[in-house]
Amino acid sequence: MNPDDIFKNIISHSKEYGFIFQSSEIYDGLSAVYDYGQMGAELKKNLRDYWWKAMVQMHENIVGIDSAIFMHPTTWKASGHVDAFNDPLIDNKDSKKRYRADVLIEEHVAKIEGKIQKEVDKARERFGEAFNEATFRETNARVLENQAKADAILARFKDALEKNNLEEVRQIIIDCEIVCPVSGSKNWTEVRQFNLMFSTSMGAVTEDSNVIYLRPETAQGIFVNFLNVQKSGRMKVPFGIAQTGKAFRNEIVARQFIFRMREFEQMEMQFFVRPGTEMEWYNYWKATRMNWHNSLGFGQANYRFHDHIKLAHYANAACDIEFNFPFGFKELEGIHSRTDFDLKAHEKFSGKKLQYFDPELNQNYVPYVVETSVGLDRLFLAVLSKAYVEEKLEDGTTRVALNLPAFLAPIKVAVLPLVKKDGLPEKAREIINLLKYDNACTYDEKDTIGKRYRRQDAIGTPFCITIDHQTLEDNTVTIRHRDTMQQERVSIEQLPQIVEEKVSFKKALQGLMPG
Ligand code: GAP
Repeated sequence: MNPDDIFKNIISHSKEYGFIFQSSEIYDGLSAVYDYGQMGAELKKNLRDYWWKAMVQMHENIVGIDSAIFMHPTTWKASGHVDAFNDPLIDNKDSKKRYRADVLIEEHVAKIEGKIQKEVDKARERFGEAFNEATFRETNARVLENQAKADAILARFKDALEKNNLEEVRQIIIDCEIVCPVSGSKNWTEVRQFNLMFSTSMGAVTEDSNVIYLRPETAQGIFVNFLNVQKSGRMKVPFGIAQTGKAFRNEIVARQFIFRMREFEQMEMQFFVRPGTEMEWYNYWKATRMNWHNSLGFGQANYRFHDHIKLAHYANAACDIEFNFPFGFKELEGIHSRTDFDLKAHEKFSGKKLQYFDPELNQNYVPYVVETSVGLDRLFLAVLSKAYVEEKLEDGTTRVALNLPAFLAPIKVAVLPLVKKDGLPEKAREIINLLKYDNACTYDEKDTIGKRYRRQDAIGTPFCITIDHQTLEDNTVTIRHRDTMQQERVSIEQLPQIVEEKVSFKKALQGLMPG
């Protein structure tokens, strides 16, 4: 099945099994805003918990906070978001549709790269075993011509962005003869910068002075609390402050399901370090975060680093951890060396000192910051898209399963009485009562046992426990494992340990620790 079809199946599976719904669906939805259903909320919570435990609980020098979404408006002046948090936009005069100019150009380049790939694929088919892709790319005239075209456009575009030359960005669109996908025309407006922050007003009167923003990143709540936490927690540099929470961006091109949303959740950590040591910590956090992603078990080949060419206004080094989503490798997490930009800016705008006295150096300084920032919704999509499998079974039927790491599964145990009578439901409830204090459990008595197994496979439940008449005689049950579909007979007493062994966070967290 091609990746587009798999992606479509994942989206409909998410809705059918209560993971993700379009927001306000009964009113035809709200673009790029989504709700998490009963299964999605559990999976999202488990992902958040795994991040929190790995970052906060496992590090003595990292603490977590929960700052407000609304912040004093000057925060965003200081952080640079009022002046520099923009996307370049262009409108087509015929269709009246608005596009991100950078996306139009990048998609045009992707089309050229697609042509190159077609040539490569054709040649591979023609030459078979003897085909050498590298040599072909270096020597084939059509490939070379197209590669030069793509490189030239990207170089020109990068230069235009760096100089903030919007007229040149428009000229690239004209010169590349990019047409509006809706009207098919090349009738473009000027390119304008569009700020991505949502604003609202505080208090009863709508005046300019009451305008506040919905935070576009959680990081600023950490920066403005840097001294509060450092002093109240007696933290010593290097130390980190972590938080998870909602962020809002008025994304223009919002698509690919929960990949790019207007309301989303971030999990961020700011690590405060001595100036001059930031590159060492930047490399430490790159490795540590990559290790964390790999611990989910989806295979190292699905992750890669991408170093930023154009750095954000606050960074002196930055990279993304990219993930192989069904639509290709895309950013999952950002790791940024943010220098002392933010703390210094808040010092300047607030008039308050945000400095640390380093007892070892006997000196005050504004710490440098290394940030790790991962989108929880993107992480959810990454996990869902690799866990989702459509398997052909030996009997010719198809099974749809979510091969989630057991500790992330929304439901850990399904308890299934074979029949709805003879005291089996009561026994099933006893087992739920035994397990529910430590594990999310569900009870299901409807349909054949085979159908019930399939329903649990589809939401990723690692264990199904079946109660039958023998259970009443000898206190044993059948436990079925999701991944292997193997069943074994065990005594009820053994259940808490069998389940705990597989679903606890402990093993995953132990695997993260060096040595
Ligand atoms: N504090 C730094 C910061 O916000 P970013 O690269 O703009 O950096 C960090 O965002 C992460 O937040 C991204 O890697 C992505 O996972 C997530 N993210 C950003 N915009 C998003 C959006 N519109 N929808 C979903 N997730 C988003």
